[in-house]
Amino acid sequence: MEKSTVSLRGKHVLGLKDFSPEEIKLVLATAKEMKQIIHRDIKKVPTLRGKSIVTLFYEPSTRTRTSFETAGKYLGADVVNITSGTSSIVKGESLRDTLLTVEAMGFDAIVMRHKNEGAAEYATKVVHHPVIINAGDGAHAHPSQGLLNLFTLLEHKGHLEGLKVAIIGDISHSRVARSDIWGMRKMGIEVHLAGPKTMMPRFLYQEPGIFVHDRIEDAIKDADAINVLRIQLERMKAGLFPSKREYARIFGLNDERLALAKDDVLVLHPGPMNKGLEISPYVAYGDNSAIQEQVQNGVAVRMALLTLTLTGGKDSEANH
Ligand code: NCD
Repeated sequence: MEKSTVSLRGKHVLGLKDFSPEEIKLVLATAKEMKQIIHRDIKKVPTLRGKSIVTLFYEPSTRTRTSFETAGKYLGADVVNITSGTSSIVKGESLRDTLLTVEAMGFDAIVMRHKNEGAAEYATKVVHHPVIINAGDGAHAHPSQGLLNLFTLLEHKGHLEGLKVAIIGDISHSRVARSDIWGMRKMGIEVHLAGPKTMMPRFLYQEPGIFVHDRIEDAIKDADAINVLRIQLERMKAGLFPSKREYARIFGLNDERLALAKDDVLVLHPGPMNKGLEISPYVAYGDNSAIQEQVQNGVAVRMALLTLTLTGGKDSEANH
């Protein structure tokens, strides 16, 4: 990797809005090196030996929490998990007190998911020593997911600038869409959005490089990649779409629609999938799908984020 003058040491990872293109490039280049570790027989390096990380999840998660935990462990850190169902959170402990408690135990990083927008930013005001990594705050941001999507695109396409990516579905409830849009625009990707009008936020319409379509067909035409979003049934008020069958018929990604995109179109989905709703099983498991790869890339990207924020990476002074 080239010696880099950008450093993420001590930076809170709240959203890609506050990442520069150079910082994003540094994460992607570091993740490429980290991915090699995942393929080794012995997946353990001492990069974060002596560091401790806590994951603090107030919302359910399979991939994100596990991959942060795995990332920390591959790097030699100690990782502890707190989930809302099995902690003092059920006894009514406030977010502030829980944060102060984990800070007092000496954790160096808090990886945090919460249903409220701005919760991770709030955490940066409460604690002083630990780095805060936002693993999803309501419908606001999910930066590590945005970065792993960029990483997956870069691995397959060899470049990011000038790509055409479609993001389909429930844009207004999706923190993944928001982080995608910030990250992709910073890297020069053209973003095409489509979804039912009831799921499209209005503020996006004005931004350069973002194109909003009523029909999925128009958004995915000649696309290099399609990111299908999960319909967030748990965040949704009733009545945003008439029925699941209708949604699948009008906005679901199926084989027929996939044929409108480029031949080598990459299909992404953050998971968990509602198969048969936003994506057909054939597309989800088909040749163009990178959905399982995204999971592995998620570990690599999170290894990169933890290394860069906690140590500055191999070019930092701390390692000389
Ligand atoms: C996403 C999330 O939780 O925001 N999932 C994930 O992190 N893999 C997307 C979703 O739940 O739809």
